[in-house]
Amino acid sequence: MSHGDAFGKETGRVPSPAEKSELFGRAAGEIEAILTGETDPVTILSTVVAVLHHRMPHAFWTGFYRVCGDELRAGPYQGTPACLRIRRGAGVCGTAWAENRTIVVDDVDAFPGHIACDARSASEIVVPFRDADGNVAAVLDIDSTFPGAFGDEDRIALEAIAARWSP
Ligand code: SME
Repeated sequence: MSHGDAFGKETGRVPSPAEKSELFGRAAGEIEAILTGETDPVTILSTVVAVLHHRMPHAFWTGFYRVCGDELRAGPYQGTPACLRIRRGAGVCGTAWAENRTIVVDDVDAFPGHIACDARSASEIVVPFRDADGNVAAVLDIDSTFPGAFGDEDRIALEAIAARWSP
């Protein structure tokens, strides 16, 4: 599938639940095929971001914030330049880390303390990637220019990818 087709950036849109099921199935299979046997964490996180960003027509910004001491640090990511560091409990990402749970935000303006790295983002989903002890090692943040772009299909598929590919 090329990047200019129905699932590409040029025709960005929010897929139907059936389309999400298809595209996440394809993305998970692609990640599995590319990364099976790979152990390098940067290679793994970069590839997860690359596949998801190019497979999700509703993704405007796709990337990780890694837990480094008492803050999150950006990268790897794809999209416009990010806010580089986020405090624990700050914004959607810092809240997902502090509360160790997925957060889906339909309208970023309605989320208290939302951090706007790019004003075009309208909705987002943040999914924790946990280490073997269940502590958050990184969060995956996906932003959309469309309001309400993310739902249960996204959450379930991304949490499965997190369980499989946590660093
Ligand atoms: N909106 C996020 C910050 C990261 S950017 O969207 C890439 C937040 O509120 O944590």
